[in-house]
Amino acid sequence: MTNDEFVAIGIDTNDAWIRDRTGIRERHVAGPDETLTSLAATASRIAMTDAGVAASEIDAIVMATVSPDHLLPAAAVEVQAALGATRAAAFDVGAACTGWIYGVVVAEGLVATGTAETVLVIGGELLTRIVNWKDRNTCVLFGDGVGATIVKRSQKGRGVLSSYIRSDGTLAKLLWRPSGGGANPVSEATLADGSFWVQMQGREVFKHAVRSMADACDRALDGAKLSADSIDLVIPHQANTRIIEATAKHAGISMNKVYVNVDRYGNTSAASIPIALDEARRAGRITDGSTVMFVGFGAGFTWGSLVVRF
Ligand code: UT7
Repeated sequence: MTNDEFVAIGIDTNDAWIRDRTGIRERHVAGPDETLTSLAATASRIAMTDAGVAASEIDAIVMATVSPDHLLPAAAVEVQAALGATRAAAFDVGAACTGWIYGVVVAEGLVATGTAETVLVIGGELLTRIVNWKDRNTCVLFGDGVGATIVKRSQKGRGVLSSYIRSDGTLAKLLWRPSGGGANPVSEATLADGSFWVQMQGREVFKHAVRSMADACDRALDGAKLSADSIDLVIPHQANTRIIEATAKHAGISMNKVYVNVDRYGNTSAASIPIALDEARRAGRITDGSTVMFVGFGAGFTWGSLVVRF
């Protein structure tokens, strides 16, 4: 869906505003017959084929999402059933846009403790189903998508070199869904006031995003004992090109070493990093031995980073 299509459906916005403020040109909207589960199963099968992993070998499925098909049970068990991953534990990680980074940290722990050999980590969202399509502050920003990855025991010095995850729940209300949960259940009043849709104070979120992504870059490099020069590629959460550029500038990494696809997907929250990872690999920007820094920030607030050698 292009920016102009929002104007066509009566939203008071324009292509120039969206591109200048966010870098977004278009985003994907799941079709009426598609669900988070169907997209996640498709992405997972592609990742499994790529990694040479059968469904029967998966020990755990970690699904990072804030837009599940159902509020109960976990989105991960729906994917487990769709894949026929009969041996797998399955659970969700709700860390919003930092969800895939959190998920990889959990997977790393499962593998390191011997609880699991093979973990499927998915970042997926159907955000267009939880935003208010009349609210120009949010509807133009978000998109749908899923990325899937396989985590296994590392060999020959490859794998996760450092990880860093943080949160600050005092800022939760800057980006949240005020109703629909136990504190403010679905009622005629919440349906009428639309408070179950995503609400965001964009400018405030922006400031914290820039600060937290900078912190996360510093910590990832410190943890891996690497300088910015040793990073071959940065894959940041894709929310806004201005946030990405500020992050790269802080880290002292030129933009030609930063993967950007927000222009084609919008903000897909937990899916943004694994989608970008997949594209970067297919484009040959990640090869054996590449050192990649992942950095993310999202609702919660949560933020975090990983340095991974492929
Ligand atoms: O994924 C992690 C969480 N999310 C983020 O990281 C998003 C962080 N925030 C942002 O990316 C930016 O703050 C936004 C893109 C959301 C907004 O950009 P901004 O430069 O911070 O704009 P603003 O919120 O300060 O709004 C500027 C003006 C306002 O008008 P007034 O009050 O100055 O007259 C808005 O009403 O732009 C107006 N505006 C729009 N105009 C046209 C807000 N949304 C739109 C729109 N089209 N869609």
